Amino acid sequence: LKLGVLISGRGSNLQALIDACADPAYPAEIVLVLSNKAGAQGLLRAKEAGIATAIVSHRDFATRESFDASVTAKLRDANVELVCLAGFMRVLTPSFVDAWRDRLINIHPSLLPAFPGVDTHARALQAGVRMHGCTVHYVRNDVDSGPIIVQAAVPVASGDSEDALAERVLAAEHRTYPLAVRWIAERRTRIIDERVVIDGVDG
Ligand code: GRF
Repeated sequence: LKLGVLISGRGSNLQALIDACADPAYPAEIVLVLSNKAGAQGLLRAKEAGIATAIVSHRDFATRESFDASVTAKLRDANVELVCLAGFMRVLTPSFVDAWRDRLINIHPSLLPAFPGVDTHARALQAGVRMHGCTVHYVRNDVDSGPIIVQAAVPVASGDSEDALAERVLAAEHRTYPLAVRWIAERRTRIIDERVVIDGVDG
């Protein structure tokens, strides 16, 4: 399966996908890494791995629609079959989300539907939850919503700092995103009534 990965920064989840794809037995390959920020560290990770990169700066576009159309054009040119958001910090328009419906996934650092949006780790600590984690989901038009593919739960330790919790969740993210992509690439995921069923996992 041909992947396009959209990033804005560090790209550690991108790195997890690059590492997974390095195994010849892994059923996906990254054909394009696209960033809306020229300085994103993830672009260096892509170049290091010999993967094509593109920068589409949202500042060069008057509207969200024209920015998103340019992103779609780049993804299509690269024959991308599945778009993976990995720390991509732009909200996408409904027309983009519709154009890539069921071929667009995101990783979010919480157990959705708890803590959509930003600052999830601080909010989890504030709420006093004992379990936190991450979610990979198909993207729908509401922010951080859509059919859930896989989640990993991470315990919160008493006295956890935001950074310590974030690091524990990030390690789980790096295992979870490649797993979700594998299931999709193996065509084991189906969306039924906006819920995901995975062959061999859900029976
Ligand atoms: C991750 O925590 C991801 O879940 C969230 O943004 C962060 C991106 O980190 N959407 P990285 O760029 O993959 O290192």
